Amino acid sequence: MKALVTGAAGQLGLELTRVFGQDGEVVALPRARLDICDHEAVLHVTRETRPDVILNCAAYNDVDGAETDPGAAMQVNGFGVRSLAAAARETGAVLVHYGTDFVFDGMAVHPYDESASPGPQSVYATSKLLGEWFARGAPRHYVLRVESLFGGGTEAVDPTVRPLGSTVDRMVDAMLAGRPVRGVTDRTVSPSYVPDVAAATRSLVMGNAAVGLYHCVNTGRATWFEVAWAAASRLGCEPLLSPITMSEVQTRAARPRFCALSNGKIVAAGATMPTWEDALDRYLAARIGEM
Ligand SMILES: NC(=O)c1ccc[n+]([C@@H]2O[C@H](COP(=O)([O-])OP(=O)(O)OC[C@H]3O[C@@H](n4cnc5c(N)ncnc54)[C@H](OP(=O)(O)O)[C@@H]3O)[C@@H](O)[C@H]2O)c1
Repeated sequence: MKALVTGAAGQLGLELTRVFGQDGEVVALPRARLDICDHEAVLHVTRETRPDVILNCAAYNDVDGAETDPGAAMQVNGFGVRSLAAAARETGAVLVHYGTDFVFDGMAVHPYDESASPGPQSVYATSKLLGEWFARGAPRHYVLRVESLFGGGTEAVDPTVRPLGSTVDRMVDAMLAGRPVRGVTDRTVSPSYVPDVAAATRSLVMGNAAVGLYHCVNTGRATWFEVAWAAASRLGCEPLLSPITMSEVQTRAARPRFCALSNGKIVAAGATMPTWEDALDRYLAARIGEM
């Protein structure tokens, strides 16, 4: 199988490049080699390389920045995906695109499944929802909603490089350096470990699963404080941790409070989604192994 990875220098792009490269050919294109906002370039590259699957990891992920630069967010997260869908449609490639839990309003009390109605609360969230809709323009598409990604780069191309740093990466960096860490107690998430997302993506594509929308998160849910506590207790540095609430954190864009996602559909399709605690154990083992 030949895969084309866009946004290939990002945390998920690096890992997908590694995973799909294990038994296939990968054309890994960081932003400097393919700007997905350049419609003609997207069509040209796809015609030249004729991939079986396009894995779109390119995204505008500055949630607060999108509030003051909505055009940039819409270009990358929306119209860039439309170009990729057009290229996939023309060449017959499968399009894999990644969405976000932020498309929900966060007012639920049970984990959202794929039938739940979106209610985006920010420009970023709206731009990502637009991208989901455009991705459906590819006849063979998978839209995988991920959430609170962590661990990109730890088991990827170069284990010493964590180029971007997720919330979990930053928390663990601080703990390992003996710095204090604050964990939010009133925001609930289902974290997604990058290697598990990459393995699930490969499982869907290789297994020829039914196309459509899937929630691609580790099993379970936790507040950010609970995630931080789990990491701190495994590292023996609980005293570094203190609780805060969302009201104490200044952000330009609204964050949904409750964004646990149900992963039953992707598990039923054959993907393995371990618990977030199991993923955290593997992540910490990889981090400690680096030291
Ligand atoms: N990180 C999370 O917690 C999270 C949560 C929910 C959903 N997601 C989604 O999951 C996917 C992967 O996220 P990630 O965390 O791996 O992202 P990431 O680490 O921020 O990587 C995104 C990559 O896209 C590149 N990019 C930006 N604009 C581009 C353009 N116009 N053309 C080509 N490349 C461009 C960026 O390059 P530059 O660095 O040069 O700008 C960066 O390398 C994205 O769709 C994201 O929205 C992520």
